Amino acid sequence: MTSISLAASPSKSAFALRYSDAGFDPVAADFAPSKDALTAYGAKTTSATVARVPGPKGNVLVVGSNGLSLRDFGAVVRREALTDVSLVAAVETEAQLLQLLEGLLLGGKTPTRFKKATLDPVSFEVVVPANLVTTDFSRTEKIAGQIVAIRELINLPANELWPDKLAQEAKSLATGLPIDVEVWDENRLEAERCGGILSVGKGSVRPPRLVKLSYHGGGKHIALVGKGITFDTGGLSLKPAEGMVGMKYDMAGSATVLGAILGIATLGLKVNVTAYMCLAENMPSGSATRPGDVITIRNGKTVEVLNTDAEGRLVLADGLSLAQETNPDHIIDVATLTGAARIALGDRYAGVMGHGDAVKLTLESASAVDELLWEMPLPPELRTILDSEIADLANVKIGNRAGGMMVGAQFLADFVNKETSWAHLDIAGPANNDAAPYGVIPKGASGIMIRSLIELAQRVAQ
Ligand code: BES
Ligand code: ZN
Ligand code: ZN
Repeated sequence: MTSISLAASPSKSAFALRYSDAGFDPVAADFAPSKDALTAYGAKTTSATVARVPGPKGNVLVVGSNGLSLRDFGAVVRREALTDVSLVAAVETEAQLLQLLEGLLLGGKTPTRFKKATLDPVSFEVVVPANLVTTDFSRTEKIAGQIVAIRELINLPANELWPDKLAQEAKSLATGLPIDVEVWDENRLEAERCGGILSVGKGSVRPPRLVKLSYHGGGKHIALVGKGITFDTGGLSLKPAEGMVGMKYDMAGSATVLGAILGIATLGLKVNVTAYMCLAENMPSGSATRPGDVITIRNGKTVEVLNTDAEGRLVLADGLSLAQETNPDHIIDVATLTGAARIALGDRYAGVMGHGDAVKLTLESASAVDELLWEMPLPPELRTILDSEIADLANVKIGNRAGGMMVGAQFLADFVNKETSWAHLDIAGPANNDAAPYGVIPKGASGIMIRSLIELAQRVAQ
């Protein structure tokens, strides 16, 4: 939808370009147009950072980054652009240019096939200093395309996306990349003793799946585990009507790990990555798991399921057990795990909990690519409350409302070795965006943490 070409500025700085026809002076790199100035330039529309003005070759976006990062700035430009435009921006290095292009590619609305003609194709001609005109941005373009495809997948309503369908979508997105894909159906899950995924999927006529994606770049091994509930009704512990809206997004964690491995394989990083997508639809029915049922997870631990709405931790328990068996250098799981994450951190920050290097690695990686991630503790007393009389642990403490995000993480910790470098990312807040677009995040699915995980793999590969 968004296509980009580069054009060389005749001078060293793109900002030295003169559009004398348009009647304004060369723009300094720190140009932040005032409303009055924009009006004087004949700008058609204005915002704090962008003005669309007539130039010699049609519309020109005159821009001042106004304190925004180049990436966020590119995203603002993408949202402002209604027609094909030339863009002049304060870019001096290749890294800066790639960030700007990433913003242009990620900032737009996510396509949907359920609404006709919602998106106009827009092409950008980005005017850059002559030495940057041959910059190869094909990988930036490809990865941004993958992130948009993942957003589309996350946005799909549950009547269009169920566990097997998501497994097939994962396969087709991985086609052409050096990624092995295995799909475990319900029989294989039974044979592999994946009692968590099976118990969550039991209530649905659309059976659960596990997708295992493997990329062999050599070197260190990262295991990624994603929560993939294609719809979360809560099961027999049924959610109230308002709480159920948006639960089509409950597979975002699995889509995130898919997006990450696609990106890592596209870059050909020297690292081994295994991604486990734990897929089920959480439905109430005559065959559903009942509160009080005891199930056995892949690693042999038994769980008393006191609330069937705390299902994410059950499917992740199997995925984490499988990951742990291979003794990877790092395990990272991603999940829309708890409503409590939103209460604690709001709708823009993801929470990270865990032990070992992985926590610091995720924080540093997220910060490097401007994604919002905040560390939360793993208090031991929040594990004790999950003790059960009849099983190794319970999936919730009935009546407890304190520290729900950390309680969820403490449950998961039972399925990872203490010495293992492990990070749990709770993305319940930022996985989707109901409000106005911000930064590179459009409305709907955000695709958050994909770029952080790719960055993390890059750091581990070095
Ligand atoms: N999928 C939800 C968490 C969620 C809530 C994600 C809101 C995004 C927005 C999860 O499966 C869930 O229902 N968690 C329960 C846990 C509770 C029963 C301990 C919750 O948060 O209420
Ligand atoms: Zn739930
Ligand atoms: Zn859920």
